[in-house]
Amino acid sequence: MIYAANFKTNHTRQSTREYLGKLQAKLMLERKPSDKVYIFPPLTALDDYESTNFKIGVQNAYPVENGAFTGEVGLEQLAEFNINTILIGHSERRDILKETQEDIAKKFAFFKEHNFEIIYCIGESLEIREQGLEAVMSHLVSQFEGIDTTYENFVVAYEPIWAIGTGRTASVEEITQTHNELKKVVDRPLLYGGSVKGANINEISAIENVDGVLVGGASLKTETFLELVLH
Ligand code: PGA
Repeated sequence: MIYAANFKTNHTRQSTREYLGKLQAKLMLERKPSDKVYIFPPLTALDDYESTNFKIGVQNAYPVENGAFTGEVGLEQLAEFNINTILIGHSERRDILKETQEDIAKKFAFFKEHNFEIIYCIGESLEIREQGLEAVMSHLVSQFEGIDTTYENFVVAYEPIWAIGTGRTASVEEITQTHNELKKVVDRPLLYGGSVKGANINEISAIENVDGVLVGGASLKTETFLELVLH
């Protein structure tokens, strides 16, 4: 299983260090060798972390080496911290930060060219979900526009927007159906995200085409994230 923690705009450099220290101590002893753990802290918390038990990635970056892009971080800044993993297409960046599919595809192409491991997020609104699976799939497929789905170093995260941070998880049936359909479209590891927590990890991880989880809220404390990773 893959367990990915997305801190979003939470944690500082200091609290991230404490978190990772605790995580490392536990994972060293108890991580299943086949499991992979990713942490996506805020950019200001990047540091010289090195561990064989988890990988640090970034929640976002700008698709340039360096240059005049006020407020953005490019490849040169990431290289200083040996970062080669990135989240692309998260619904908060699509919806709140207004990234278009074209922006996202550009970002994907750039980081692919630099051999980054990409966790690529897709997901539908409640309005689309209520129209049924066909409408959901047509929306999800449209979020692969401009994306090279044959890239060998990427993972897909299916995150229904209505389940993110709401405490409302998609049902086992909804996840099963959507993941089965998605696997026909893109043959990559497939994460589920949206209110994953200790209380639902068993049923979600038991679904055949769920290869891992992307976690926001329940990843913010080492204890609650470990409940998932060591379940
Ligand atoms: P959540 O967030 O676990 O808080 O629902 C998931 C995500 O946005 O990746």
